[in-house]
Amino acid sequence: MRAYPGEDCIVIKRIVFSVLAVGLAFSALAVEVSDTQRAEIEQRIKPVGEHCMLGDSSCGGAAASASAGPRSGEEVYNSACMACHATGAAGAPKFGDTEAWAPRIAKGADALHDSGLHGVPGTGMMAKGGCMNCSDEEVMAAVDYMAAGSQ
Ligand code: HEC
Repeated sequence: MRAYPGEDCIVIKRIVFSVLAVGLAFSALAVEVSDTQRAEIEQRIKPVGEHCMLGDSSCGGAAASASAGPRSGEEVYNSACMACHATGAAGAPKFGDTEAWAPRIAKGADALHDSGLHGVPGTGMMAKGGCMNCSDEEVMAAVDYMAAGSQ
């Protein structure tokens, strides 16, 4: 016997409502998690885009020198001169090779700076060692760094 014929209907409405509420709660949670994850992923992959391959003078170097003033001789050496001067490639005097550097250092700092800036004609030593985004000041600092480390 049904005293209140509407009662069934209310129960169904309640069930439908709670299913909807649970569904909403879950979807809100899902969105929140994926936003957090996205932020984390962006944070994680961000520095990768700023990395620069060793020896690639077209990136990093220009921006670094623009923002942080002149690079030190060591920094310039590491990014622009090391390719040849660490290995002796193309007949370059090796960093730290006192024998190879002695006659060069004997020419004096001005002559060495001049070779660094304008290169040595007919050899693999190009003007500025090929570092076109290096300032004169930076190239001379790199020459000084190499000479100081090779005597
Ligand atoms: C592509 C290879 C290469 C790169 C890169 C390079 N050099 Fe050299 N460098 C040479 C070679 C080869 C010589 C020897 C030239 C010679 O026969 O006198 C040399 C010689 C020199 C000398 C001695 C020159 C002299 O008068 O005796 C200086 C100074 C020098 N390099 C500075 C630099 C600096 C500074 C850089 C980076 C900014 C650099 N080099 C990058 C190949 C290179």
